[in-house]
Amino acid sequence: MVSIFTLVLGLGCAVIASAHPPNYHSSPDRLTSRANAGEQIFLGRFISTPTPDELLIQQGAVLVSSADGRGVINAVAWNVSSPAAAITALGAANGTTVVTSNDQGFFFPGFIDGHIHAPQYPNLGLFAGTLLDWLQAYTFPMESSLGNASSPMYANSTTTPDPFARAQAVYAHVIDKTLSYGTTSAAYYATVDVPATNLLASLALQKGQRAYIGRTCMDNQEYNPEYYRDESPEDALNKTLATIKHIQDIDPSGELVAPIITPRFAPAVTNQSMTMLAELANNMSLRIQAHADENVGEVKLVAEMYPESSSYVGVYDDHGLLTNRTILAHGVHMTDAEIALVAARGAGVAHCPASNSALGSGICHVRKLIDAGVTVGLGTDAAGGYSASVLETARQAFLVSRLLSFQEGQNASLSVPVTEVLYLGTMGGAKLTGMEGRLGGFAPGMLWDVQEIQLGNWETEPVDIFGWENWHDRVHKWVWNGDDRNVNRVWVGGRLVHQK
Ligand code: GUN
Ligand code: FE
Repeated sequence: MVSIFTLVLGLGCAVIASAHPPNYHSSPDRLTSRANAGEQIFLGRFISTPTPDELLIQQGAVLVSSADGRGVINAVAWNVSSPAAAITALGAANGTTVVTSNDQGFFFPGFIDGHIHAPQYPNLGLFAGTLLDWLQAYTFPMESSLGNASSPMYANSTTTPDPFARAQAVYAHVIDKTLSYGTTSAAYYATVDVPATNLLASLALQKGQRAYIGRTCMDNQEYNPEYYRDESPEDALNKTLATIKHIQDIDPSGELVAPIITPRFAPAVTNQSMTMLAELANNMSLRIQAHADENVGEVKLVAEMYPESSSYVGVYDDHGLLTNRTILAHGVHMTDAEIALVAARGAGVAHCPASNSALGSGICHVRKLIDAGVTVGLGTDAAGGYSASVLETARQAFLVSRLLSFQEGQNASLSVPVTEVLYLGTMGGAKLTGMEGRLGGFAPGMLWDVQEIQLGNWETEPVDIFGWENWHDRVHKWVWNGDDRNVNRVWVGGRLVHQK
């Protein structure tokens, strides 16, 4: 019998591309028949979104080399379907491990969360009011409790607070949980606390999640609560330097974990700290993350605090923080002039639709950003977003775009369809985090940061597949109803980091 598997996937192109150096075929080592311990073959169905409007479905095998510890795709062979054929087509040694995804599954690029607050994870689903009130009522108490025994979170505690133990519990869980959702990379906000921020970096490295780790800078004495702030611009800088040192000590290559400069948002920092942080980011070529134009009350506050700047985004630009290494979260209320400025500087926006709906912030005009040339990825913004799942965020990106297109005179061009939201959660995230060409697909030279999605068992999984659906439709059904129960295995840099 010819299976759906063969019928649908026979369409893939039969190309063997190779990223091996030119002397590969004549290399004596490679001509031996002994398996190379640093190599694995992945065999099955591969689905990805190389462009915003292409859902590419291929059958075949890829060869991943971990010889240098990085887990890079060295060669691909489309249209092979047996381990023996894969080994031959890829020029691999006999005995090379072949990891097979079954007929009901597929490999999909790992999700990239362009904006997530690790310390807010325990607050998922807890909201009241809008951004500025919510920060004071929920966010600052929770974040401070991971570093400060005098946090208001402990006001009624009957036991002695242990902030570091709390950080350990929360951060270990965030990483485990996001890996189980297929998030292979994340740009994390931590807290102001140095030991807890260092711990988040150590845990990401240990558990194998690719992560930018940002100590949250908050030196504005008027805006931030007394129990949760840096003491001065110098204090913010020195504490940031301490976390950078730790992160670069534990991962000198920066391949898996790297520091990211994190002025929380314009109201929480000062002119002095912004200038010093920009200089630091520039000198050390570090990435930068901040919030911008999320909420109308926040935009008004920034205009009052920084009357000398032309706009919210202008505040960051005036201080040297708007660069082609900068991620701005939200961008809901950016003016056309701000969008043009973001595009001109090559900065990116992490679109956080679940958060924007939950906090009543508004609807981000994603199409306008994309059309203006701004790089866009997705952010869960947990716990402004109620879920730390990028898949959930992707479907929310679709939904809010549909509402916007209706609101704007039923303008269908404003919709962001399924293929494009998947693109934003993978390729878009790769661009946003400076990993373009290295993450988000299955081309030779890309890193094996991949999730294996499993569909077809409705006893144990949330997506009901009847068996007659083609793979285009199955992917759509997964996007609407899938969750972590469909994530079978997850790899980062060729290392298995999660198994259901
Ligand atoms: N702006 C400043 N801090 C935060 C935060 O923690 N979450 C969100 N959504 N917006 C912010
Ligand atoms: Fe945020």
